[in-house]
Amino acid sequence: MIKPIRIALTKGRLEKDTVEMFERLGYDCTAIREKGRRLILPVAGTNLEIVLAKAADVATYVDNGVCDIGVVGKDTIMEMGGTFYEVADLGFGKCRFALALPQGVDFYEGYHTRRIASKYVNVARGFFERKNMDVSIVKIEGSVELAPILGLSDAIVDIVETGTTLRENGLVVAEYICDVSARLIVNIASLKLRKAEIEPLIARIEDYLAGEETE
Ligand code: PRP
Repeated sequence: MIKPIRIALTKGRLEKDTVEMFERLGYDCTAIREKGRRLILPVAGTNLEIVLAKAADVATYVDNGVCDIGVVGKDTIMEMGGTFYEVADLGFGKCRFALALPQGVDFYEGYHTRRIASKYVNVARGFFERKNMDVSIVKIEGSVELAPILGLSDAIVDIVETGTTLRENGLVVAEYICDVSARLIVNIASLKLRKAEIEPLIARIEDYLAGEETE
């Protein structure tokens, strides 16, 4: 049996848009829609297999070559690094990295070393290094908005999509850092060894994206 081409999809935030994109490309995603608790799903009538994983693990599986292709947020790529080709900006999952803090607080006032909470410690460190600013960074796993409210940090570096979470928790954006969105990534060896199968798939996605732009 020929080895399937494995595509790792990020569960949660990006899942719905990714499945919709594959359906618009003409792939039968019934198995994914009816997945239950299964984590590896076939795409009927193709040699493709979908692997559902957490964002950071999508990057790890593609980096290590156990998945050939991945769909993951630029936020995760920026935080984790990794060696793979980033071949396309898929245009969904759009949000921004931002520095945010409690309303009414001036981040730059005073001389104390600021404490920053983030799930994205490398992104936060890079941001402050570019400013030549010495900060102390504390890693938080989720709902990072809690950290300044509870008094653990002065500010947070996090992704902002609609801004609702900040607003509903009394926080405001002090500075936008950069835009992020979902990206298509490909394992370096896979692209060489399975070029005949992977390149047409990338081309199909690129054509689809070009069509979306002109709509
Ligand atoms: C992200 C992010 C914010 C929120 C922003 O968290 O960390 O908390 O979404 O979205 P909004 O601007 O539309 O309100 P996510 O829901 O991914 O969960 P997490 O806190 O567990 O990381």
